[in-house]
Amino acid sequence: MHNLMIKHAAQVVTCSGFEGKRGREMADLRVIENGTVIVTGGIISHVLKPGEPVPVNESDYTVIDATGKALLPGFVDPHTHFVFGGYREEEFSWRMRGDSYMAIMQRGGGIVCTTHATRAATEKELIVSGRQRLDAMMRLGITTVEGKSGYGLDRETELKQLRVMRHLNESHPIDIVATFMGAHAVPEEWKGREDAFIDFQIEEMFPLVAKEGLAVAADIFCEKGVFLIDQSRRYLLAAREQGLQLKIHADEIAPLGGAELAAELHCLSADHLLQASDKGIRALAEAGTVATLLPLTAFSLREPYARARTMIDAGCVVALASDLNPGSSFTASVPLLFALACIYMQLTPEEAVTAFTLNSAAALGRADRIGSIDVGKQGDLVLLQFPSYKFLPYHVGMNIVEKVIKKGILIVDNA
Ligand code: NIG
Ligand code: FE
Repeated sequence: MHNLMIKHAAQVVTCSGFEGKRGREMADLRVIENGTVIVTGGIISHVLKPGEPVPVNESDYTVIDATGKALLPGFVDPHTHFVFGGYREEEFSWRMRGDSYMAIMQRGGGIVCTTHATRAATEKELIVSGRQRLDAMMRLGITTVEGKSGYGLDRETELKQLRVMRHLNESHPIDIVATFMGAHAVPEEWKGREDAFIDFQIEEMFPLVAKEGLAVAADIFCEKGVFLIDQSRRYLLAAREQGLQLKIHADEIAPLGGAELAAELHCLSADHLLQASDKGIRALAEAGTVATLLPLTAFSLREPYARARTMIDAGCVVALASDLNPGSSFTASVPLLFALACIYMQLTPEEAVTAFTLNSAAALGRADRIGSIDVGKQGDLVLLQFPSYKFLPYHVGMNIVEKVIKKGILIVDNA
């Protein structure tokens, strides 16, 4: 039975809206105190204020008493690389000794190292490890996750990663939104032939991915020493022709102008943005491209955080994501994400909640279906152990999620 009623929540943090919230609007969570939410057939059918009569027959519903607890939309993580083989724990030690992420990548470590391990892994092995990571995310309140390919960098392995995500999407409660990232790094066999590698993505990979419907978006690592602005523009424009939405790893390490490019192409999102220029930030705001910020990566790499306040003040739609991957951010810790966003990027708790619900749904083009507690949306909900959303950043590093509901079904009970 996908009929569920959650009664008397201390707060129903609706995050109400059907598109990403810009700038100051991000602070508006539309909280209902002592509210009730009804999910009928997996879809939110009623959001009730105290005193409003319950218009359904309670005996048709599983009823949860949420007295003293806050109810939020399920969290949406719009940027991860959760399907990969092997680990890179040695690299972490090298970085702590002073090596940079890019130096390690340039000498054949980094993404290329994970590419070897992912090529060697069977589909089944990737499904097993991918499922374990999804289980962990689910216990932290994540109900929709984006996942990228990009650890194959060859035809077979890129398709293998995407098929693993398709399989997991069909067999795991979490919804998975797959992104094709054939241009994540230049593999050894293509070194020095970057333009030809981009041609290979455009001519061979995009049509294959589109034909099988394996991804909804394409992404590229636009970075000094990886793929340059012109290569990124060519790749993204061709991806759009195949019906894919556009995402870009932009201005992470060097200020290359990735934000400006994202705005020029009206990408769905520009991600990282640690080094985005003032001009780039203004352009993102004007274009309505979601600025997806990844504080766990800045933290793990000991890089300066993205200028979230400048972005919000400029009117950007700001989202948050974990960037879960085996190199720059081996974590999907929602509690740490909230803490860093508020303590180091100076988001308010309200802005952080919007950034990891409605705006992260917008970063996936799904703000019409998920990311808020509105009638007609999917019944994806998170119940906290505490009476206010304000505990999310405040109870630093602790998982305060008590229950997780997906399409009206209780999928996690940490109580
Ligand atoms: O988003 N920066 C590029 N891609 C990933 C890291 C991937 C890796 O190091 O394996 C990121 O941080
Ligand atoms: Fe990434």
